[in-house]
Amino acid sequence: MIFKEQIAERYSSVFGDAPTHIVRSPGRINIIGEHTDYNEGFVLPTAIDKAIYVGVGKRNDAVIRLYAEDFEEYFEVALADIRPVDKGWPNYVLGVVNQLVLRGEAVGGFDMYIDGDVPLGAGLSSSAALECAAGFALNVLFDLEIDRVDIAKIGQLAEHTYAGVKCGIMDQFASVMSKAGHVVKLDCRDLSFSYKPLELGDYAILLLNTNVKHSLASTAYNDRRASCEEGVRLVQQHFPEVNSLRDVTLDMLEAHVKPVDLDMYTKCRFVVEENERLNRACDALEQGDLDRLGEQLFRAHEGLSKEYEVSCPELDFLVDYVKAFPEVIGARMMGGGFGGCTINLVKNSFQDLLVERLTPIYKERFNLDLTAIKVVPSNGTELL
Ligand code: GLA
Repeated sequence: MIFKEQIAERYSSVFGDAPTHIVRSPGRINIIGEHTDYNEGFVLPTAIDKAIYVGVGKRNDAVIRLYAEDFEEYFEVALADIRPVDKGWPNYVLGVVNQLVLRGEAVGGFDMYIDGDVPLGAGLSSSAALECAAGFALNVLFDLEIDRVDIAKIGQLAEHTYAGVKCGIMDQFASVMSKAGHVVKLDCRDLSFSYKPLELGDYAILLLNTNVKHSLASTAYNDRRASCEEGVRLVQQHFPEVNSLRDVTLDMLEAHVKPVDLDMYTKCRFVVEENERLNRACDALEQGDLDRLGEQLFRAHEGLSKEYEVSCPELDFLVDYVKAFPEVIGARMMGGGFGGCTINLVKNSFQDLLVERLTPIYKERFNLDLTAIKVVPSNGTELL
């Protein structure tokens, strides 16, 4: 947790005056429903108690100045000259500014100080959190009256255009719209959603960070998305009413994708089945049947690893290892894949022991540190 005062103080020491607004926008977890969002499917995320914080203030000229505490880096550009840059982090803010300009919003020069406690590259959507923090902050700073869902959409487009990842809407939606103690069941087809209480009784959500960052993750992500779209095109030749994998049945895939491309078929089938798993998981959550919920997580991991092929040896190892303990009722890799965290449903009293046992084994096997992260479902973006 980072305090408002700390952001205000650091903003002042970097930019000389005081920020007019300070915004907090959280990272996210996802209980189940992976790679479904860009296929018009369902997701079940929530924001966590780790966030990106930004302080902002207006300038009298048309210049943007940014400072990122994590990298101790300063960046400056004229509003008229913004374009994607080589260095990563400014793109998340510049991409948002670009979207606002394209919408015809009256954005002027500003200073922005950025800090946060979302672990970077851990699959907890620090980039979406930054996009949403920036969008929300500029919305209040320039009095743009953009609603929350549009802020999420602007963040998603920023990711597409300035970061080059054709992501779905889940991360930004979760960052902006989440409610403490709940998960959001979001239908990515029309963005209708409902909040479901996350009542886990004796169990807790424990994230285990592999500390693996795969450099090809964004290419592989875009490739998976392209495979799904190609699968839909094949089905559409026979069922023109089909728009996305959401409208596709296993029979359609069997008949029209499998004979053409077995790998594409396997990827598409994963997505259709992942939506089914999510619906089963939601029923289980509503009925308080945590074992059944956990089972869906283990199954989802199998699919993500063997069918959709977005896991990595470190993630597979962690999921396999925890499976042996009756105190762990569910686990899977989370997010885009190729690294980042596993999400685990673990008996409260067993969490520390599990981490204690697992850490040296993981280190020996992969020569990497394992980081355990305890998270609490939290509220979405807010003005502090
Ligand atoms: C990343 C993307 C999301 C979603 C997940 C996979 O986090 O940003 O839109 O597709 O991967 O579920």
